Amino acid sequence: MKGPEICLYLGDCIGGMQRHLAACSVDVVVTSPPYNLGIRYGTHDDSAPREEYLAWCGEWGSELSRVLSSGGSLFLNVGSKPTDPGVPFQVLNVLLQHFTLQNVFHWVKSIAILQSEVGRYPGLTDDLVVGHYKPINSRRFVNDCHEYVFHLTHRGDVPLDRLAVGVPYRDKSNVARWNSAGKDLHCRGNTWFLPYPTIQSRNRERPHPASFPPSLPDRCLRLHGVERVEAVLDPFMGIGNTAIAASALGLFCIGFEIDSDYRDEAAARLTEVGGIVRKESVDPHREPHSETPHEKGAK
Ligand SMILES: C[S@@+](CC[C@H](N)C(=O)[O-])C[C@H]1O[C@@H](n2cnc3c(N)ncnc32)[C@H](O)[C@@H]1O
Repeated sequence: MKGPEICLYLGDCIGGMQRHLAACSVDVVVTSPPYNLGIRYGTHDDSAPREEYLAWCGEWGSELSRVLSSGGSLFLNVGSKPTDPGVPFQVLNVLLQHFTLQNVFHWVKSIAILQSEVGRYPGLTDDLVVGHYKPINSRRFVNDCHEYVFHLTHRGDVPLDRLAVGVPYRDKSNVARWNSAGKDLHCRGNTWFLPYPTIQSRNRERPHPASFPPSLPDRCLRLHGVERVEAVLDPFMGIGNTAIAASALGLFCIGFEIDSDYRDEAAARLTEVGGIVRKESVDPHREPHSETPHEKGAK
C-alpha cells in the first residue's frame, strides 16, 4: 500500500492543533479521547476530577470546531464503565457547545441473538452469541457490551454516503421497490457490530489499553463519503488505528499523541502496512493560528 503521507505528531493535541492546523483544514475527525475512567495510559493521567476533565474536553472540542471544515464530520467515540455510565453523556453535553448532534451510533462489541427470541429466521439455525463477555462479579451491573460514537457536525446537515456502508437486502424483491439505483443495498442503521480482530499476543499486537479496531474509523470514513475527504484527523491517535484506516482508503491523515511509545507504535504499524509516515513534534515556539472558530448555526 502506498498512499498519501501520514503525519504523526508527538505532543499535546490542543497546542498541536492551534499551532499546526489552519481553520477548516480537516474534513473528517475520528477519535476516541481518554474517558476519565482511571485507565492506565503510559503518560496521560486518566483520573482528573470530573469538572477539570470536562473543562479540558471543552478546550479540545473548541479546537476541533475551528479545524473542521463546514461540511465536515466529527465521529467521537466515548465509552464508559458500569460504575460510571454517565461519562459519554457528560462529554457529549460539553461538545454540544461547539457542534450539532447529527447521528448517534452504538458500537456493539458483543451480542446475543437467541433463536427462540427471533423465531423462524432464514440462516439462523442456532443461538448466536458473539464477542467477548468479560466476567464481572456484581449484582448491580450488567456486562458493558457497547460504546457510543457521536456523529457531530457544525449544523447537523452533512450529507452521508449511507450505501457505502450498506447491507444487502434480505428480501431481494425490495431491491427494485425501494432503491431506484437498483443496488442490492439498504442503510445499515446505527447499530454497528465491530469486533476486535483476533490476536495472539496483546502486548505485541495491541499494546494500548483502550484502542478501537481499524474497522471503526473505516466505517465512519466511508459513511461520510471518501470522495469528499482531503484530510483526516485523530487528535488522540493512540497506536494509529484511524490513520491505518485512512491510509488504506488512500486519504491524507494527521494524528496527535502525547505518549512517545504509542506514537512510535503507530508509526511502526503504519510502515508495516506500507504507509508513508512522517514523524513530527508539536512545535511550542510556533505562532498559534488565530482564526475564530465556526459559530454554531452560522450559515
Ligand atoms: C482512548 S485512547 C485512543 C486510542 C486510539 N483510538 C487507538 O485506537 O489506538 C486516547 C489516547 O489519547 C492520548 N492522549 C491523552 N492526552 C492527550 C493529549 N493532550 N494530546 C494528545 N494525545 C493525548 C493517550 O495517550 C491515549 O493514547
